[in-house]
Amino acid sequence: MNDGSILGIETSCDETAAAVVRSGEKVLSSVVSSQIATHQPYGGVVPELASREHLRAIVPVVRQALADAGHTYSSIDAIAVTQGPGLAGALLVGISYAKALSFAQKKPLITVNHLEGHIHAVLLEEKQKGAFDFEFPVLALVVSGGHTHLFLAAERDHGWVYENIGRTRDDAAGEAYDKVAKLLGLPYPGGPIIDALARKGNPRAVKFGPAQIKHLNRGTPRARQTPFDFSFSGIKTAVLRYVQVEGMQESIAARQQALAQIVKLKADDVLALCDRKTLDLVASFQYSVVNDLVAKTLNAADERGARTLFVTGGVAANSELRQVFEAEASRSGVPVYFPSRKLSTDNAAMIAAAAFPKFRAAEFAQADFSAEASLVLR
Ligand code: KG4
Ligand code: ZN
Repeated sequence: MNDGSILGIETSCDETAAAVVRSGEKVLSSVVSSQIATHQPYGGVVPELASREHLRAIVPVVRQALADAGHTYSSIDAIAVTQGPGLAGALLVGISYAKALSFAQKKPLITVNHLEGHIHAVLLEEKQKGAFDFEFPVLALVVSGGHTHLFLAAERDHGWVYENIGRTRDDAAGEAYDKVAKLLGLPYPGGPIIDALARKGNPRAVKFGPAQIKHLNRGTPRARQTPFDFSFSGIKTAVLRYVQVEGMQESIAARQQALAQIVKLKADDVLALCDRKTLDLVASFQYSVVNDLVAKTLNAADERGARTLFVTGGVAANSELRQVFEAEASRSGVPVYFPSRKLSTDNAAMIAAAAFPKFRAAEFAQADFSAEASLVLR
């Protein structure tokens, strides 16, 4: 089975997505229905609302993906679905739908780990450019709203195997962006807006020393064993303290009120409502997060002898992260690959692509599997 069109379904968080991908590399369609408007008033994803929105969107989104690809329910070769990690209720919507479709259409069903999906977003696009050979081991930083992981990947049999050599102890990097945005009265999700605003501020204005991003138990034997772990809750608290000490609460409340009146919010509308202090603060926050992500990843690459770097997940869309990674990685001589911005955030093309090696190996799911909110990648 060297060819095959796979319908991918992704509902692990706040995007209902479906896509058809041929042979793990040709994206025939990719439809993403975002729930941003639903979660925006809460400044973060509300799990119950996410499940409800997936239920509403799943049928039209899959129909659209098939139509865009020129496929029908019966013409696809297999169905792939995210099994985890993610929100259990949200995952269940995609899984139940995929199981029903697989049963009704007698199509094989393949389960995919969402984190491996993010890694395949990179592979998929590199294959499209004709690059098939990566030097191993590959070190992949998967950095999103729910995850901050470092995986050392090697090739085995028909696919890749992974060793998780670093993870966040508390908040994910994207979660820190979203929480900082919320506490500064900026719209959800925080990543894209902070990315845009940070360009206008001074990244050295507020000093978030390494003490703000530290292991809770620095110096302990466990910390020494896991030198590539991350922690982002400290910097979020430091931003909060800065806001309090500098008396920024009133201007934050005023911004929140003004933004609530605008129907179709653009980055320029938000920029017009931010003073210098706020711009400097977000620029300094981003500078600190980006440098921590890059420094730990490059240290890990160096210590573990990685020959290739992948940076993927929603936060990989960040322009400063891309710039700093590219500059630092080229100095160290290790090539670094990112997905396009569209495939950095959650989508189903990456799920269909990640399923392809399993499709070729006829590694199909049994009917009794369920959602695994904390599914690990090995
Ligand atoms: O991969 P993703 O769509 O969902 C998860 O698997 O979590 O990532 C969403 C996260 C959000 O936290 C969002 O704020 C962040 O990615 N994000 C960004 C940018 N675009 C999205 N963070 C920093 N800079 C960006 N440009
Ligand atoms: Zn994701």
